[in-house]
Amino acid sequence: MIERIPTGIPGFDDLIEGGFEKNSVDVIVGGAGAGKTIFALQFLYNGITKFNENGLYISLEEKKDKIYNHMERFGWGFAQLEKEGKFVFVHYPAEQIEKFIEDAPYLKDVITEHNIKRVVIDSATSLLLLQENAYHRRQMFLKLMGIINGWGCTVLLTSEGKQIENEIIARFGIEFLVDGVVTIHVIQKGDIKDKAIEIAKMRGTNNSTRIIPMKITKEGIRLYPTQRVFG
Ligand SMILES: Nc1ncnc2c1ncn2[C@@H]1O[C@H](COP(=O)(O)OP(=O)(O)O)[C@@H](O)[C@H]1O
Ligand SMILES: [Mg+2]
Repeated sequence: MIERIPTGIPGFDDLIEGGFEKNSVDVIVGGAGAGKTIFALQFLYNGITKFNENGLYISLEEKKDKIYNHMERFGWGFAQLEKEGKFVFVHYPAEQIEKFIEDAPYLKDVITEHNIKRVVIDSATSLLLLQENAYHRRQMFLKLMGIINGWGCTVLLTSEGKQIENEIIARFGIEFLVDGVVTIHVIQKGDIKDKAIEIAKMRGTNNSTRIIPMKITKEGIRLYPTQRVFG
């Protein structure tokens, strides 16, 4: 039996037999503003509040105060969860990203001390952008995967994607090295743009292959599996 880790995102878990595989490494891919950060934080917030799984968010982009303020809009009180010791936010600004890899033993201690079960790294792209060529990026990603595998956590990475015809491809081709890939599409219909989610890959899972409409509501991300993108 494969143990599943539900995201609690309405409409999502049923697409993947109940959730991500326990201790898998999955990536959410999309363009700027697609909703990757919101998706990742909703996964952590629900983990703590609905599934009793503490969370660690490693930000390689935005600052804590800004994220906390934005997430308050969805009613997600990360500051309070942090006070309770259930949530940890670690920020490595652009000029210190290399330190993230050096800090691996410290992060492992944080995971043990806070009994962390879910980790987000936002974004993998920021880490890989530091490397000047494909060889070094691959080495860096393999190093990252080695670190992650020692955590014993379910890990969600975010990645910038680029649209090539109807496909969204993660920058630097990290899809091949992870267990699951979820892509957020932005689809133009006349003068409006709608969002939709696709399970591009999910090892060991009989996943949905449909593209499912998605909205960012005042309670966060919600999917509409009974609706059609091009209805
Ligand atoms: N409170 C909100 N209500 C509805 N949509 C929002 C809200 N806050 C942000 N958004 C939408 O989410 C987008 C940002 O989501 P984010 O997860 O930061 O994107 P990404 O990480 O993929 O760049 C914004 O461009 C905006 O369209
Ligand atoms: Mg983001």
